[in-house]
Amino acid sequence: MTDTKPVVLIAEELSPATVAALGPDFEIRQTDGADRSQLLPALADAHAILVRSATQVDAEAIAAAPNLKVIARAGVGLDNVDIKAATQAGVMVVNAPTSNIISAAELTVGHILSLARHIPQACGALKAGEWKRSKYSGTELFEKKIGIIGFGRIGALVAARLQAFGTEILAYDPYVTSARAAQLGVKLVTLDELLAQSDFITIHMPKTPETVGMLGAEAFEKMKETAYVVNVARGGLVDEAALHEALVAGKIAGAGIDVFAKEPSTDLPFFGLDNVVVTPHLGASTAEAQEKAGISVAKSVRLALAGELVPDA
Ligand code: MLT
Repeated sequence: MTDTKPVVLIAEELSPATVAALGPDFEIRQTDGADRSQLLPALADAHAILVRSATQVDAEAIAAAPNLKVIARAGVGLDNVDIKAATQAGVMVVNAPTSNIISAAELTVGHILSLARHIPQACGALKAGEWKRSKYSGTELFEKKIGIIGFGRIGALVAARLQAFGTEILAYDPYVTSARAAQLGVKLVTLDELLAQSDFITIHMPKTPETVGMLGAEAFEKMKETAYVVNVARGGLVDEAALHEALVAGKIAGAGIDVFAKEPSTDLPFFGLDNVVVTPHLGASTAEAQEKAGISVAKSVRLALAGELVPDA
């Protein structure tokens, strides 16, 4: 009977495979998790909530959900979930840590190529009727140094893809051994060495109090004036005001940014600069990643609501 089924609240747009993988045993409800006036009342009956990155599952949201057993993040980052408040309330938190790593790595390479060859700017100009070949002359990636800050799953995938371009990869990650780095053909360096030597710098760290603002004014000072900076990881890792200043002052050559301190963001001051490429948090937005994330969290929700052990994904 429908009214006795546990309620699974889908708070953001997830792949159709998610609902299929949940199966017939739940009452599935949809809400707009970014809209608190919809989210909070919808949580009153929910046994599970499924989110991407736009829904803040904070202490207030958890308190509004007395029946909640599981919070499922269809993606990697858990910075929009208050894990402490969930634990205190006895609510399990699950994610899909490998679902979108290839998509995120590929978007990183896309941003790096866009910056090296000015593809978005040249496209915009040509569509506006301007044939400007010399204005959009770029640089090769071949023999350039790529600095990867955070050499976890995504950082390693980015390295493997960029090695095919004949680049040299420098990595900074206090948790990675030089043996592991050497095995992957990557040179482990200090953060200062990476900032000073790299032609392209890409950050792949989680968002924590220690990493917020990690690329700020001080870091931009240490970079080459020809360096490009890419962030498809988390908004806030790059200090947006400092980035704007560094770009305007010519301290770096350009930036490719997919994630923002506040999302959605549509009119940040650096959006107007010609040497900036921006995308609206698209790292995980591929059919493949969304299908994998949806199926993975749907399975975890099924297990959690059946009171079974949820294995690490
Ligand atoms: C992630 O953390 O996996 C992504 O940000 C997911 C998303 O785009 O929602």
